[in-house]
Amino acid sequence: MLAFVARSMAKPSHLLKPLAPRKLPGRYLAHQEGLPTLPVPPLQQTMDRYLLALQPIVSEEELTHTRALVEDFRKPGGVGERLQKGLERRAKKRENWLSDWWLKTAYLEYRLPVVVHSSPGVVLPKQDFQDRQGQLRFAAKLIEGALDFKTMIDNETLPVEYLGGKPLCMNQYYQILSSCRIPGPKRDSVVNYATGKKPSTHITVVHNFQFFELDVYCSDGSPLTTDQIFIQLEKIWNTSLQTNKEPIGILTTNHRNSWAKAYNNLIKDKTNKESVRSIEKSIFTICLDAPIPRVSDDVYRSRVAAQMLHGGGSRWNSGNRWFDKTLQFIVAEDGSCGLVYEHAPSEGPPIVALLDHVIEYTKKPELVRSPMIPLPMPKKLRFNITPDIKNDIEKAKQNLNIMVQDLDIKVMVFHHFGKNFPKSEKVSPDAFIQVALQLAYFRMYGNACATYESASLRMFRLGRTDTIRSASVDSLKFVQAMDNPGQQEQEKVELLRRAAQAHRSYTDMAIKGNAIDRHLLGLKLQAIEDLVSIPELFMDTSYAVAMHFNLSTSQVAAKTDCVMCYGPAVPDGYGVCYNPMAEHINFAISAFNSCGDTNAAQMAHYLEKALLDMRLLLQSNPRSKL
Ligand code: COA
Repeated sequence: MLAFVARSMAKPSHLLKPLAPRKLPGRYLAHQEGLPTLPVPPLQQTMDRYLLALQPIVSEEELTHTRALVEDFRKPGGVGERLQKGLERRAKKRENWLSDWWLKTAYLEYRLPVVVHSSPGVVLPKQDFQDRQGQLRFAAKLIEGALDFKTMIDNETLPVEYLGGKPLCMNQYYQILSSCRIPGPKRDSVVNYATGKKPSTHITVVHNFQFFELDVYCSDGSPLTTDQIFIQLEKIWNTSLQTNKEPIGILTTNHRNSWAKAYNNLIKDKTNKESVRSIEKSIFTICLDAPIPRVSDDVYRSRVAAQMLHGGGSRWNSGNRWFDKTLQFIVAEDGSCGLVYEHAPSEGPPIVALLDHVIEYTKKPELVRSPMIPLPMPKKLRFNITPDIKNDIEKAKQNLNIMVQDLDIKVMVFHHFGKNFPKSEKVSPDAFIQVALQLAYFRMYGNACATYESASLRMFRLGRTDTIRSASVDSLKFVQAMDNPGQQEQEKVELLRRAAQAHRSYTDMAIKGNAIDRHLLGLKLQAIEDLVSIPELFMDTSYAVAMHFNLSTSQVAAKTDCVMCYGPAVPDGYGVCYNPMAEHINFAISAFNSCGDTNAAQMAHYLEKALLDMRLLLQSNPRSKL
């Protein structure tokens, strides 16, 4: 069991023990308790499927070597069986055998900066305002909408979600508000202040690198109205006009070990400690950004994506963030807006569901309000910057600016068709997009690569994700055939349909808890926990290739015409996130400029072509009506 230690400065009402659900009576708990527990897949099944998953991405020679290792690992009475039993024992004792391991391995012990490497952003459609008034009005409405969503969480009236007809775990919704990541020397933690004796009642507002505590509830517990919030935001704006402040928030962009050291240094000072605590406790953050540099319409969305992911660097809006905060809405003066979120407590879908609600809310006509009572001035959060802290900020700025320069991001709106087209062809839209990605990659590089697509495990209590391995034997057969002039068109169609079907089958297996990646991770972590040596299977080249995800992809479907974006998982890879709408698809593709072999715009180009060619192939060879 992991121990999450409270920081001395704060006594949070609820430490996020490995995603433990809040102790709530009633509907939520009853719902959660009714959910099945995550199964441990059968060992032999995972071994067979692992070998199958390797086929398209490793050489025959590597595969032969790995087959021998697998045979040794899976033999009766062997290491595999022993570890499997350990996992099964673990599963009997816990609500979810994986969730705390996953939280620790994927997030809290991950040492690269959360910026670009872990925290996703969301690009919203450009809003129809061009000045401060419009910015603050929209921000006020957005805050009210988010508080409206919070009321549903607090009252447990949030409708339960379903996937494939099965109810989903709703725990992540209870982790995204009033929470914050806190850096630690080897492992971070997440604190949550949503419940307890004094649940949070304020949000953090940042403008010109200056942080404010804004109370968003009246003394009777009702949330402030849009008008009241607007007036409070104006007060904040007017008292933060100076643009020469130290960008203290940039500290949160650093490598986690460096940030942990700087954090301890920062909170030695009592005032700083109180300010940091206020940010951590707040329900969420609103970043009132300066306008982003003007660019052509063509690159506008890509520029906004970069702003959401990193803020544009130390000279732009990066100091207008506290990147450890779980949820940060960003509203810039020129109408560009979106959010960035810290990934540890939640996957994209709950964040986007909240965003859908908020955006719908901002469209509602405003009610006529009764006369307003005067409200206190929002509290400015002060920081005493010692020479050491200044030094830490300077180092963080340098590192951040390198990251900013390195991120290559392209948002592509694919206008030609949306998910309705594959549906009309009786093909799963997600599978169609994933096969197109395989085709695009193959055309660019001449081979398949390890490809990650997130699959929801929320059918299970405290479930997070597993991996759909989109590069399959069938997808490789299709992409090899597609540009082969010697291949019949009808054969290509068959191969395309088979590849899509294989993807959909993998998806079904994954969401039912039978994929291989988390199981393999579990077996490896069980070996570490049992203090036995790491089995050779995990030291093998094939395993390294399988875990080197050159394509790290995710569908995050939203009702809003937005797109989520994130950085690549490996230095020579791509991050590809997409939102398939009915008649178009929004893609955000990222790469690193420091890698000579990758290029986000080029990948977008090849992806567009792959999607179009696949449509043409299906349309030119209609299915028989029989
Ligand atoms: N013929 C016609 N329609 C089909 C079809 C077919 N053969 N196969 C699927 N469809 C339909 C579905 O019924 C669905 O219809 P809807 O739009 O009315 O709901 C639609 O097409 C979409 O289905 P599909 O494209 O197959 O994908 P999905 O919605 O089942 O999503 C995943 C697949 C993997 C994205 C989803 O299971 C999942 O796990 N999502 C969470 C991912 C996540 O957590 N990401 C965030 C990480 S930060």
